Amino acid sequence: MKIADKVSKNRIENQIKTLAQIGATGEGGITRLPYTKDERAAVALVKSYMEEAGLQTFFDQFGNLFGKLEGKSTEAPVVMTGSHVDTVINGGAFDGVIGTLGAIEALRVIRENNIPHVHTLEACVFVSEEPVRFRAGTLGSKAAIGDFTQSDLDRLKDKDNISLAQAIKECGFNPEQLESVRRDPAKIKCFVELHIEQSIILETKKLPIGVVDQIAAPTNFRLTLKGKAGHAGATPMNMRNDAFMAAAEIALEIERIAITIGKEAVGTVGEVKVIPNAINVIPGEVILGIDVRDVTSKRKDEAIAEIEKSINNIAARRNIEAVIEIIQKQEPVKTSPQIVDIISSTCNELGLPWCNITSGAYHDALNMAKITDIGMIFIPSAGGISHAKEEFSSIDDIYQGARVLAEVLVKLAS
Ligand code: GLV
Ligand code: MN
Ligand code: MN
Repeated sequence: MKIADKVSKNRIENQIKTLAQIGATGEGGITRLPYTKDERAAVALVKSYMEEAGLQTFFDQFGNLFGKLEGKSTEAPVVMTGSHVDTVINGGAFDGVIGTLGAIEALRVIRENNIPHVHTLEACVFVSEEPVRFRAGTLGSKAAIGDFTQSDLDRLKDKDNISLAQAIKECGFNPEQLESVRRDPAKIKCFVELHIEQSIILETKKLPIGVVDQIAAPTNFRLTLKGKAGHAGATPMNMRNDAFMAAAEIALEIERIAITIGKEAVGTVGEVKVIPNAINVIPGEVILGIDVRDVTSKRKDEAIAEIEKSINNIAARRNIEAVIEIIQKQEPVKTSPQIVDIISSTCNELGLPWCNITSGAYHDALNMAKITDIGMIFIPSAGGISHAKEEFSSIDDIYQGARVLAEVLVKLAS
């Protein structure tokens, strides 16, 4: 018997549809920012799915949710799998969700079919994967690997000045017990995450499965530019210190630098705050949220150094004060070659064509790689679109991804 054949396409489809109603916006997307009513409702629904699947559920004090299926040996390290259910603003129904539901489905069919496994299996839902509310992402998995300090909990704030510590507390967890959230690496065998590709390689190559071999990582920083506010009509062009014009020039420089580096380098200015943001006032201050990524730390650091140089040159020429504040800096990782082999041979056994693939997006797996072996399974994203309401993956592709995940977990946990 193939455990893959026990996976229920219908159940996954129904669960995706039900989950998509939580946080649905009037514009056709989904907004579930971490530690909000909607995100917690989604987590509660997922917890009920875990319980229906026969998993023992528990939360850590950060708000991460786990569903456990005990193996024959309580001593053997745990095989972990999962993803997240928080979203960007007006995002889609698949990012994070298919890895979460796929994990529960896989563990469910393993339990229902009494598949012997030595290692305990754990489905995880990491909180705050998206960097929208607190600007830094993958917070739950960062806490789980111990890569988080008490001061980070107070430093990271949302736009209403609510600190991460406060948000966690308001949901009934205890951020002061951060140490208890940290997982012992010796007790984890590996982490495998199923996810949508969020790019167009699989669709272009007409392949149902991507086996991730490396994950790009971001450096995120906030740039505050201070010029001089003034009258938009009465201030001659040669008397201005327009913070927005400096920001515009810097944004174009970031684009030029990323394009010049080429390959997997990308640079994005995704956040712009203009102060005072009035049609007849020269902007006195602008705050930019900047995201730069690459698959090698060396190339990413070189890009950041070049961007910093450009910022300083532009600011000096325009007589603008520029302050750079690093929000998070992560290192790119390679996935485990052994897990890549297991995933690709499983695809071959199931008759699913696959290719190796780089993840340009980051994932909780990026953090987990610091303490354990990781693997990622990608399925196609229509038009490569993600982080948008148009995000779509077909249920057939999702089903195949969950089938591969189930087989891979059996092999890893046996
Ligand atoms: C996470 O979704 C990212 O920004 O890559
Ligand atoms: Mn995402
Ligand atoms: Mn995701």
